[in-house]
Amino acid sequence: MISRRGLIFGSGAVLCGAGLAPVGGLAATELGLPEDAGPRLDTVVSAPARGMTVAMTFDDGPHPTWTPKLLDILKARDIRTTFYVIGRNVATWPDIVKRMVDEGHEIGNHTWSHPFLSKLGTEGIFGELDRTSDAVYRAVQRIPVTLRPPYGALSGGQAATVHRDREMPTVMWSVDTQDWRRPGAEVVASRVIELSVPGSIVLSHDIHGPTIEAMPAALDGLIARGFDFATVSMILGRRDWSKIRWRLPQTDFAES
Ligand code: NI
Repeated sequence: MISRRGLIFGSGAVLCGAGLAPVGGLAATELGLPEDAGPRLDTVVSAPARGMTVAMTFDDGPHPTWTPKLLDILKARDIRTTFYVIGRNVATWPDIVKRMVDEGHEIGNHTWSHPFLSKLGTEGIFGELDRTSDAVYRAVQRIPVTLRPPYGALSGGQAATVHRDREMPTVMWSVDTQDWRRPGAEVVASRVIELSVPGSIVLSHDIHGPTIEAMPAALDGLIARGFDFATVSMILGRRDWSKIRWRLPQTDFAES
């Protein structure tokens, strides 16, 4: 189902730069986040239709087999995307995350263990997010600036809290390939091509072979329709994540 509502506004109560007190003592939370020119929203499902641009997003990786194949496909087309990685997978395969970043992709936070965040308290949510941000930091010396909750399960109040205390908007999606139901590569490709509109954020997963198999046709089909591609931060009008210069805290990340 496609939402054409565009941006969804959350509570709107955002304390820019004021809510960075670390919870749980994890170092990544102490990074000074840069000022951001984009809209300050708790939750988004798609971007304003400024042009024929879509943001492809891939969740649940990195996967040792499928993610590198996907990276090859993207590189051949000079396409930049966003990977919502699972922290424990990052810790297992940091080199794949390094390659993502080296090739211009953005890394988003998809939690450490893929729980229903909506069932967790604030401390549990921050634990999942901070542990993941730390793993990403160890791999690529930068941290995610957006969250995608597993199963899309996060209340509006929780999203507001995460945005306020971690400066992370929650990024949902407006095109769902439902690739996890394994409908086959052709169906996944046709959903991507036919359901995308300007500003779409497309959800799929780089842990399923048929999804990767679908991508050449899906991407080429979008290109044939006149689309180009942006990372999540870029399609939302935020700063290009790959160009953010992080102000590092006086903390040794190699410890702990
Ligand atoms: Ni997921």
